[in-house]
Amino acid sequence: MNAAPPQSALHPAGPIGETLLGVSLTLFVGALVIFAGVMGLLYVALRRRPGAVNVRRWIIGGGVLFPTSVLVVLFAWSEWHRPPWRAVPPADALIIGVTARMWWWEVRMRDPATGAEVVTANEIRVPVGRPLYLGLTSADVIHSFWVPALGGKMDAMPGRVQHLQLQADRAGTWRGQCAEFCGDQHARMGLHVVALAPAEFDAWLAGQARPAQAPATPELERGRQAFLDSRCNACHTVRGVSEESRLGPDLTHVGSRTHLGAATMPNSPAAMGEWVRHTQRHKPGARMPSADNRLDDATVQSIAAWLAQLK
Ligand code: CUA
Repeated sequence: MNAAPPQSALHPAGPIGETLLGVSLTLFVGALVIFAGVMGLLYVALRRRPGAVNVRRWIIGGGVLFPTSVLVVLFAWSEWHRPPWRAVPPADALIIGVTARMWWWEVRMRDPATGAEVVTANEIRVPVGRPLYLGLTSADVIHSFWVPALGGKMDAMPGRVQHLQLQADRAGTWRGQCAEFCGDQHARMGLHVVALAPAEFDAWLAGQARPAQAPATPELERGRQAFLDSRCNACHTVRGVSEESRLGPDLTHVGSRTHLGAATMPNSPAAMGEWVRHTQRHKPGARMPSADNRLDDATVQSIAAWLAQLK
C-alpha cells in the first residue's frame, strides 16, 4: 500500500495529476495574493479623506484593466498546462473501456495475446509509466469518473463515449469515486486503480483472459452448481461456467479483486459470504438482492466459498 492517502489530488502519483496540482496551487496562491492586495487597498482607502483619490483612474485600472489582464494571462497559462485532450489515443497507450452503472464500474481491456475482450469490474490494474486512455460511457444515468491521484475527472454519459487520459508513475493502489450524484448508492460507487510493474501487469491480464478455473473439490463443485441453480448467472457472467449476462459485474476472477461491492468492503472469503448474504444491509438499494431472504445458509456459504477462490 502507498504511504500517501489513496484518494487525494494533493498527492499525485503521475504526470497528469502533478500538472493539475501545479495549476490548482498557482491559482490558489495567485488568488490569495490578489485578495490580500485588495484588502490592503481597502484599508488605505478607508483611512483617506474623500476626494483625495482619482476614483475614475482606480475604477478603470483596478476594476477593468487589472482583472482583464490577469484573466487573459491565466487563461493562456492554464491552456498551455492542461492535460492532453485527444480524440485519438497516443500510440503506446493502454486502452480501457469503462461503463458506469448504478452503482459500479464495468471495465474492459483487450488481451494482447488473442485480441479477446477481458471484462472485469470496479478495479483497473494498469502498468506503471504507461499512458492510459479511457473511453467512458454509462449504461443508465450520468456518472463521473475520478481517480484524484492520477488525473482529472470526466463525466460518463449514456449514449456517448468520452475520453480521459491518466497515468501512474509509481506502483500502488489508488482509490477513485463516482463524482456525479447518481442515486441511492452514489457514495458507494468507488473503484481502485492498482498500478503494477509491466511484467506483473502482463501476467495479471493473461490470467484475467482465462476462463474461471474448474472446481478442485466436490465442495467447490457444489458451490458452482448452487450459483447456477440459484440463478445468480441471470445477472453475473462467470466465463466458462455461465452464458454472458452483463446486468451485474463479471465474476470470473472476483476472488482476485481487492474489494467487493464497488469498494464497499475489502475482499476476503468471509467478506464474500457477508456480501452475498446481506447485500442490502451494506448497500441499500443496490440492484442485487440479499441472499439471506431467499437461500438457506449452507447454499449461501457454498456459493461464497466457490466465488472467493475464483482468482
Ligand atoms: Cu455514479 Cu454517482
